[in-house]
Amino acid sequence: MNVNLQHWRLEVDAQGIATATLDKAGESANSLSAEVLREFSSLLDQLDVSPPKGLIIRSGKVAGFIAGADISEFARLDTAEQGRALVERGWTLFNRLAAVKYPTLALVRGHCLGGGLELALACRYLLTVDQPATKLGLPEVMLGIFPGWGGMLRLPQRVGPAAALDMMLTGKTIDARRAKKMGLADDCVPPRVMEMAARQLVVSGQPRRPLPFMQKLMNGPLKRVVANGARKQVVKKVRPQHYPAPYAIIDLWQKHDGNALAAPEVVDRIIASPTARNLLRVFHLQERLKAFGKDSEFKARRVHVIGAGVMGGDIAAWCALRGMTVTLQDQTLERIAPAIQRANTLFSKKLRDPLLARAAFDRLIPDPQGDGVPHADVIIEAIFEHVEAKHALFRAVEPRMKPGALLATNTSSLRLEDLRTVLQRPERLVGIHFFNPVSMMPLVEVVEAEGADPAVVRAACAFVRQIDKLPLPVRSAPGFLVNAVLAPYMLAAMRAVDEGISPETVDEAMLAFGMPMGPIELIDTVGLDIAMAAGKQLAGGADAPKCLLQRVEKNQLGKKSGQGFYAWSDGKPQKGSAGSVPAGLAERLVTPLIDRAERLVAEGVVVDADLADAGVIFGTGFAPFTGGPLNWRQASR
Ligand code: NAI
Repeated sequence: MNVNLQHWRLEVDAQGIATATLDKAGESANSLSAEVLREFSSLLDQLDVSPPKGLIIRSGKVAGFIAGADISEFARLDTAEQGRALVERGWTLFNRLAAVKYPTLALVRGHCLGGGLELALACRYLLTVDQPATKLGLPEVMLGIFPGWGGMLRLPQRVGPAAALDMMLTGKTIDARRAKKMGLADDCVPPRVMEMAARQLVVSGQPRRPLPFMQKLMNGPLKRVVANGARKQVVKKVRPQHYPAPYAIIDLWQKHDGNALAAPEVVDRIIASPTARNLLRVFHLQERLKAFGKDSEFKARRVHVIGAGVMGGDIAAWCALRGMTVTLQDQTLERIAPAIQRANTLFSKKLRDPLLARAAFDRLIPDPQGDGVPHADVIIEAIFEHVEAKHALFRAVEPRMKPGALLATNTSSLRLEDLRTVLQRPERLVGIHFFNPVSMMPLVEVVEAEGADPAVVRAACAFVRQIDKLPLPVRSAPGFLVNAVLAPYMLAAMRAVDEGISPETVDEAMLAFGMPMGPIELIDTVGLDIAMAAGKQLAGGADAPKCLLQRVEKNQLGKKSGQGFYAWSDGKPQKGSAGSVPAGLAERLVTPLIDRAERLVAEGVVVDADLADAGVIFGTGFAPFTGGPLNWRQASR
């Protein structure tokens, strides 16, 4: 019917129903670049001339509906005018879409994020396709910006402000069925009937589900109350000087009905903020980590984990959650039982559907005899941190492994070069180093020992991606990257306590800097005994801090023993109020961390400064708005 569209196809069937299919040229996923929006506008021009009975908007990509705006265009914004123009472009176009006379429907299959959801929200109907890949969300806040193309206006109208603010302030996504349940989608159908359902719904004349009365009030006369409540929640999580976007989202919704153009100064401030630039950097760093292992054909189905303790148990559970069949070995069944129990809690928390949780549970098999070894594609050793114990285990396991299987160790402190001496094929041992707690920490260090087979390291990265973690390749060196940078930071924090600064004040200094947790609370969480052992290995012979020694002597080991620097109850530290933070304390504490990170880059433990920043952010939670420790140092010079 039309000419000159590169990214869209427009077809009109015999009944007069038009389908606009977005299939962005040269890309595997759809994003809303200026060009794509321009074409969409001319497509609407065309439909103005001969209005269809209904318009269905869908994707031509298997990857999903629309991933969002084109991030590379966002990265190229140089001036405030360009920022405002970008907001204006989508805001005006989607208002136009919302106002067309004929009924419109977004057929959402796969991811529908950011600008993609804003486009779908501007349609009269939204139909989701029930499959695991269908995810809807407005994740702009995670890039330090706001949903300026109508999301802040229409999502609260569609699902009520409480649910809408929750989605916009956290960036979390929801699945197809949940979208229907909360009123975001008008219906949710299985893939095989989606076309038929879309055609029926678009011309059905069916009214939208009205917002419940209370939600209407909350989106009207009670806006101020809701906004104040949301601000209180946000204050607990992030500070406005570090993360201005969530505060801006609440303001724009409350005062301008989600129209950012009505508050151009806010647009300028947010888009030009260092936070937005740095969060974009973090996004790219994450993409870089995700690309590791792409060059490997390795695919795991079965995993065998040996050692069902704190780490092994949780690693096994995570792998089962991510679809692997997992055998979990320990010395006795009794030692495996607590791990299975923890796994059960994880499955029901992460997989709301009891059938899916049950299936994950069935994939996790207690295996005290190690019967899973010959079938496993990946074997992960997570037993006690003793060279001899690990040697004995490797001797027994290696001859039983199937050819091509990966043998990995989760060791934190032992040299892979020492561990592999008993192996027939030492070049095949790789470190796959998870962090505690496994389910919360996105990073996994993939450790390459001297002379290791590079194909094995690539395969290990591919495996880490398969279980949805971020692999960071590191060379074998004490503490690898993450623990090596944390050790001098924790030491500096405890030296400050030795000087008489209270643990609360030390923690407050780093919270104000932007860390998710203060270093003293972190030490309590990790365990003072572990901090002591790490210090011996990584502090370069420095004396242990007095405050640490005294507590370890009294067996005050932190969270796990109920008392460390803080008393712990219900899993929370009982903190007193912090004193005033001495000037320069945060910089003093963070300096050794940054110095060490620089040194590790210079020594080649991690390939470059960007990857060091990525590792420290995803492995320790280092304030993401800074763009990472090395980026922060450079910016503050
Ligand atoms: P853990 O002491 O909680 O668990 C070790 C488990 O291994 C115990 O259940 C024990 O019964 C079992 N085990 C010992 N010898 C065995 C054998 N020959 N066969 C089968 N099972 C055996 O230890 P955790 O903390 O889980 O540490 C395990 C490994 O993970 C260590 O190498 C440690 O360095 C590393 N790691 C620990 C982290 C942590 O935060 N705890 C973080 C990252 C790595």
